[in-house]
Amino acid sequence: MAKYSLKINGKTQQIDIDPSTPILWVLRDHLNMTGTKFGCGMAMCGACTVHLDGSAVRSCSLPVSAVGKQAITTIEGLSANGTHPVQKAWIEHDVAQCGYCQSGQIMSASALLKSNPNPTDEDIDNYMSGNICRCGTYLRIKDAIKSVKL
Ligand code: FES
Ligand code: FES
Repeated sequence: MAKYSLKINGKTQQIDIDPSTPILWVLRDHLNMTGTKFGCGMAMCGACTVHLDGSAVRSCSLPVSAVGKQAITTIEGLSANGTHPVQKAWIEHDVAQCGYCQSGQIMSASALLKSNPNPTDEDIDNYMSGNICRCGTYLRIKDAIKSVKL
């Protein structure tokens, strides 16, 4: 066990935990923040995507010991009351079906748009290819991303 002081959604969280514990389980099991989802556990589906200093990362494969002073942002901290432009676009385009993958999709899309505010179809396909949706909402995701003006 080891003690960590993590910056999550603008707050400092103290935690005493095995250093190899993935951030996904810190969030879900220790901090009761269940917006970030478990899918594959192997960095292959994107359901667990969060931001680390603004970049999209797979929290299922990020050990707590690797975070250091970097800021973690989860879907709960992306905006107050779901008002981030990407969240608004998701609602306008009625993107979600079952919804399971969608917090990861939104975290990836918001990271993409921050680094590339006007992505082409190819940019979106390349960036979002690691976020799997078993409901097949890919076309709506692309339309929603293209509609966002940051
Ligand atoms: S649960 Fe992390 S990428 Fe699938
Ligand atoms: S909306 Fe169901 S898995 Fe994507």
